[in-house]
Amino acid sequence: MRPLFLFARLPRGESLAHSKGAVFALALLAALPAHAAGSAEAGKEYFTATCMVCHSAEPTDDGGAQGPVLYGLIGRTAGKGDPKFKYTKAIKASNVVWNAATLDKFLTNPPAMIYGTAMAEIVASKADRDNIIAYFTSLKK
Ligand code: HEC
Repeated sequence: MRPLFLFARLPRGESLAHSKGAVFALALLAALPAHAAGSAEAGKEYFTATCMVCHSAEPTDDGGAQGPVLYGLIGRTAGKGDPKFKYTKAIKASNVVWNAATLDKFLTNPPAMIYGTAMAEIVASKADRDNIIAYFTSLKK
């Protein structure tokens, strides 16, 4: 009870300053997830330059076929989304569901997460991974 009592006795100006600080901190917290979510536009650029040689993320992007098509990737089960693609046993048995967290981990080092996968492309930068994930998320209608 003592700290509460002390707080109540703060001069008016001081307690106002405190509440302003709290509002500012909350505003910062609210802004953070938006920043961490990355840029779908930058993600599309990265995908086009690096992943599209093997993958297609949109029916119209004319991506390569060395990897599975990635339409509607968010929410898909790994190794099952492209019925025409011959996935490795490793990814088929992984039981991973693609979301922001699993994609972030996979793209950091695919074989470290799913040992034996044929997907080898590492995206070393967290910012690039966030952008790619934002791009995939933007495609989810
Ligand atoms: C050299 C070709 C190649 C490149 C480049 C490539 N991938 Fe792949 N990717 C593959 C192959 C092959 C698989 C199938 C893995 C398996 O069967 O184990 C795959 C699988 C995946 C999967 C799992 C798909 C599913 O249906 O479960 C994701 C997600 C993925 N790649 C994302 C990416 C992203 C993002 C990039 C660019 C940063 C990228 N890949 C670059 C060849 C590639």
